[in-house]
Amino acid sequence: MPIPFLQRQGKRLEKRFGEDDPTRLRLKYEPYYHTFNKQVGSRVWRDDREYIMLASNDYLGLGNHPLVIEAGKKALDEWGSGTTGARLANGSRSFHLELEEELADFLGKEACQISSAGYLSCMSAVASFATRGDMIFVDKNSHSSLWSGIQASGASYEKFSHNNADDLRHLLSTEKPEKTKIIIIEGVYSMEGHIAKLPEIVALAEEFDAFLLMDDAHGFGVLGQNGRGTVEHFEIENGVDAICGSFSKSLAGTGGFVAASRDAIEYLRSHSKQTIFSAAVSPVATACAKTVLGIMKEEPEHRYRLWENARKYKAILADLELDTWESETPAVPIVLGDKEKVYFFWKALMEKGIFTVISVAPAVPPGKDLIRTAISARHTGEDLERIADALAYAKSKCRL
Ligand SMILES: Cc1ncc(COP(=O)(O)O)c(C=O)c1O
Repeated sequence: MPIPFLQRQGKRLEKRFGEDDPTRLRLKYEPYYHTFNKQVGSRVWRDDREYIMLASNDYLGLGNHPLVIEAGKKALDEWGSGTTGARLANGSRSFHLELEEELADFLGKEACQISSAGYLSCMSAVASFATRGDMIFVDKNSHSSLWSGIQASGASYEKFSHNNADDLRHLLSTEKPEKTKIIIIEGVYSMEGHIAKLPEIVALAEEFDAFLLMDDAHGFGVLGQNGRGTVEHFEIENGVDAICGSFSKSLAGTGGFVAASRDAIEYLRSHSKQTIFSAAVSPVATACAKTVLGIMKEEPEHRYRLWENARKYKAILADLELDTWESETPAVPIVLGDKEKVYFFWKALMEKGIFTVISVAPAVPPGKDLIRTAISARHTGEDLERIADALAYAKSKCRL
C-alpha cells in the first residue's frame, strides 16, 4: 500500500503548489478572496458584519436598477441561461447583434464584438490585430489583459514610460518606418486613475502611421459629456482606431467589447482565438448590459452624482494629506509606498467597516504599493462621513 507522504514528495507540481510563497502569504494574511453573503446598495456583509464597499468598479451604481433586474429576468425567461457555444458556431443570437450595434454607435465606431469578459475582449483585440513582425508600443502600466494579448500575438514590443508622450515619440522615431506599429494605452489607468494624454498620443499615431488601441474599461460611462469615455472627454472625433473595454465597471455586469472599423471587427472575428473558441456572452449578461447602457444615455444624473461623490471623497483625502497619485477620476489609489504600511492601513479600514483592496508590487511599480479605492454614485453622505472617520483612524493607527 503506498505511503501518502512519500507519494506526495514524488509529485513535483504538488510540491510547487504547497511551497508557493505568494499563496502561503495570501493564506496567512488573508488580504484577498473575501466573500460577502449579502449586498444592499453600497453596503456588503461578511460573516454578519457590514462594510461600506470602497473598492468596487461599480461607478454608476446601476446594477440593481429596477429596469436592469426586469431585463435580466425577461432574458432568462425567453432564452434560458446560456447559448452553450461560440459566436462562430452555434452561439450567436439576435440580442448579441443588438447590443453590438448600440455599443458601436455609442462609441462612434462602425462595428463591435462582445465577449464574456473584458479580459477576453482586451486580450483578443491585441492578440488578433497584432502579429509576428509587428512592433507594439505599450504604456508600461497597462492592464494584464493587454499584456496577455501582446504575449499571445507574437509581436515585438517596447514599453514607454507611463503616460509619457515624449518617451513614446522617442521610441516611435527610432523604429524603422516600414514596420507595422501599434500603440496600446488605457483611457483611464485603473490603478492610478490617470487619464491618458490622448491628444498627444493620437497626434503621434498619425505622425508615425501607427494603429492606436485604447482600453477604456474605466473611462466608459465615467468620462465625457454623455459618458462615452476618454475620446469624448477630449472631444476627439477620430484617431483612436480601436476601443476595448469591460461590462464590469459602469455597465455593472460581466462581459467585454471591442469597437473599431467594420473591417477590423470582421478580421477579429476570423482571427481571435478568444472569440472563436469561447462561448458567447450569456442572454442575461447581454440584456443587463444593454439596459444599463440605455439608462446611462437617459439618466445622466448617475454620472453627475458619481463626480460629485468623487469631488467630496478627494477633498477628504486631501484634508488628510494622503497621496492619491494625482488621480483625475473616481478610481483613487491611496499610495503608501511599502507593503507593511499598506497591510496595516487596510486592516485598520476593515476594523472600521470599510472594504478596500491592497495592491502591491509587482502589480504596481516598486515604491507605489497602494490601497485601491473607487468611489461610486451609490455612496451616500453618511457613507462618506464614515469613510472620512475610518481614513483618519487608519492614518493615525499607522502613524502616518
Ligand atoms: C483596464 C482594464 N481592462 C480590462 C479589464 C478586464 O475586465 P473584466 O473584469 O470584464 O474581465 C479590467 C478589469 O479589471 C481593467 O481594469
